[in-house]
Amino acid sequence: MSHLTVHVPLDAGRAYDILIGRGLVDAVGARAAALGARAAGIVTDETVAGLYGARVRASLEAAGLRCGLIAVPPGEASKSYACYAAVCDGLLGLKIERGDLVVALGGGVVGDLAGFAAATLRRGVRFLQVPTTLLAQVDSSVGGKTGINAPLGKNLIGAFHQPRLVLADTAALDTLSEREMRAGYAEVAKYGLIDDPGFFDWCEGNWRGIFAGGPERDEAVAICCRAKAGVVVRDEREDGERALLNLGHTFGHALERLTGYDSDRLVHGEGVAIGLALAFRFSARLGFCSGQEAGRVANHLALAGLPTRLAAVPGGCGDADALLDAMAQDKKVRDGALTFILARGIGRSFIAPGIERAAVRAFLEDELRA
Ligand code: NAD
Ligand code: GLY
Repeated sequence: MSHLTVHVPLDAGRAYDILIGRGLVDAVGARAAALGARAAGIVTDETVAGLYGARVRASLEAAGLRCGLIAVPPGEASKSYACYAAVCDGLLGLKIERGDLVVALGGGVVGDLAGFAAATLRRGVRFLQVPTTLLAQVDSSVGGKTGINAPLGKNLIGAFHQPRLVLADTAALDTLSEREMRAGYAEVAKYGLIDDPGFFDWCEGNWRGIFAGGPERDEAVAICCRAKAGVVVRDEREDGERALLNLGHTFGHALERLTGYDSDRLVHGEGVAIGLALAFRFSARLGFCSGQEAGRVANHLALAGLPTRLAAVPGGCGDADALLDAMAQDKKVRDGALTFILARGIGRSFIAPGIERAAVRAFLEDELRA
């Protein structure tokens, strides 16, 4: 089985590989056994359990591991206190010990939830990421951010806990809905927008191949993982540069909260797409980049079928004050002042602390009228 490998060279024995290729779901057992585990608790959602649960279980059992499976309902609402408790209780019921493995099989919701359970169960159990969405393969399965949502905001309860291995089976994306492929694609384009204008050019020419499952898919996943691995190694705990990975997310997270984490209305990647377009239009309004570049970003996202306007949020997203209040819970807030990730152009993002509330409000009011 041929695959690409991206290494994440963290220190203190925490370095790990990301394997990218078709069919890796069936390699989970052999890889888990090679890590010395005797048992594995698979954490997944009900949809992914139906598609890949039996294969992963069979692979683990064939490698001689005792295993059990815990499935939560699909969707963002499962990153909750209740599901976190259910997953921890399920893993304890399976007698998963420190030398064993938690296997996070699914999208970013499962990865964040299972990773947080692994971080806290018995004060830390090893875990393996088996991402099955484009979003999880290019972003959430790498870098060790784990967590759940609180009623007051997104990802506010969590821990840094690196996986021991990431197995990104790009054939698993063949069963993903068009909508979820598009949502993941927002995070792919994000890497070009942050600091790699050449990759954004490449995306404009090759995005259809990623969706269709051509060689561009594995290539894009590897490029994104390499970029993310570099950032994580330089700034694992987000004291600086890692915040750039949140381009578009201050707006996006606020939209997710205002739509009640209801995946029928808005999924994370759609919030990110609107957030990316807003971040570039806000940058243009503040004089940091040209309106033409902001237009190029929105046009590309729209061509890939993504929303780029607040008006695209089904059921609406409240007024400027509601958006500002939701943004006030952002983890980048310092002494109540908002920090945004803005851009001087495509591939030229930067951290902009101390942005005046009034400037944000005026921008949002205009956007809500657009
Ligand atoms: P998700 O996990 O909800 O998956 C989306 C949907 O696709 C779900 O309904 C799921 O059941 C289904 N699905 C998953 N794999 C499938 C497959 N192969 N075939 C068919 N259906 C499949 O959502 P997501 O977009 O993967 O992840 C979003 C989450 O990731 C958000 O909670 C976000 O905050 C988080 N995130 C975390 C990080 C991080 O660094 N930890 C980074 C980015 C995003
Ligand atoms: N997706 C943001 C991060 O991993 O830092």
